[in-house]
Amino acid sequence: MTRITLINGDGIGPEISDAVVKIIEAAGLKIDWDIQSAGADVIEKEGTPLPDRVLESIKRNKIALKAPVTTPIGKGFRSVNVQLRKTLDLYANLRPCKNLPNVKTRFDNVDIIVVRENTEDLYAGIERQIDENTAESIKVITKKASERICKFAFDYAVKNNRKEVCVVTKANIMKLSDGLFLECYRNVAENYPQINRREILVDNLCMQLVQNPSQFDVLVLPNLYGDIVSDLCAGLIGGLGVAQGANIGDNYAVFEPVHGSAPDIKGQNKANPTALLLSAVEMLKYIGENYYAEKINNALYKTLSGGKFTPDLGGNLTSIEFTEEIIRHLN
Ligand code: NAI
Repeated sequence: MTRITLINGDGIGPEISDAVVKIIEAAGLKIDWDIQSAGADVIEKEGTPLPDRVLESIKRNKIALKAPVTTPIGKGFRSVNVQLRKTLDLYANLRPCKNLPNVKTRFDNVDIIVVRENTEDLYAGIERQIDENTAESIKVITKKASERICKFAFDYAVKNNRKEVCVVTKANIMKLSDGLFLECYRNVAENYPQINRREILVDNLCMQLVQNPSQFDVLVLPNLYGDIVSDLCAGLIGGLGVAQGANIGDNYAVFEPVHGSAPDIKGQNKANPTALLLSAVEMLKYIGENYYAEKINNALYKTLSGGKFTPDLGGNLTSIEFTEEIIRHLN
């Protein structure tokens, strides 16, 4: 039986993890879940939001499914998500954004893969207070990280029959840092003559995305732009409740939704498990369980096609009812 680490998170995390575990089980796939708690709730007992046992579990199992965990803003502990990505060198953040059946959005035919560099840029966490009126944050871009993320994006494009990889920077202003990222993209692209190239500035990209998103295929971006643009793309397909994600490195992969722990709806049986479920579907494909991935995806699509939604998508089903609908459509 495949053993997978399950970080069930906090806020709505436990509710949506329960839903996803039930759906996978009902589909007939047996997974030995290695359940690990992390985040604000474990600090009191273990003194850290990301105890070593969580990292050891992922190192053993190589694959994890992760529900969101809360990170306090401005103060307190460093984000568990950022720590996980750095410690396990999960350098590629993959966020497929594709329209779902019957989920009303402004545009049809959105099918964008956002590939975000996950380890450096302004997220390197190099900040200092110069004086009480000034703080400074350093943007780090390296050739090594830029080349490997561009290679990841092109390899993904080849493997998944995509036509174009577009690089997104602000290299006209940040000539050295974003300039290096762009140069790495150009070098890597030389090895993929079958994939179209495109270069765009991040501000122009944002305008184009809200006017005509179907022109984009695979986007590759440094960390900060990738973070912001992937939420924009989540909005194009129906919001955070349906936006899936994955953090992938050479040795480990952690699959997680884009959204956070949604404390405003915690415990109210309202959370939409779709984003975590789609992340789990991507995880099943990654471990070669394509049959079950497709079976679960079809059941989700049939549920949505039948107009069955949670409140975030304008429906009136509870999380539990929505989960039961998906399970009913598995057969
Ligand atoms: P959030 O994504 O938790 O919530 C934003 C809005 O979207 C809220 O109104 C929420 O109710 C709604 N929402 C999110 N997921 C939903 C779902 N599955 N179904 C229905 N509605 C949903 O963002 P927010 O409020 O900025 O962050 C809350 C906490 O989560 C913060 O501590 C933040 O640091 C953390 N966070 C954790 C992430 C992770 O673990 N990967 C990612 C993003 C934020």
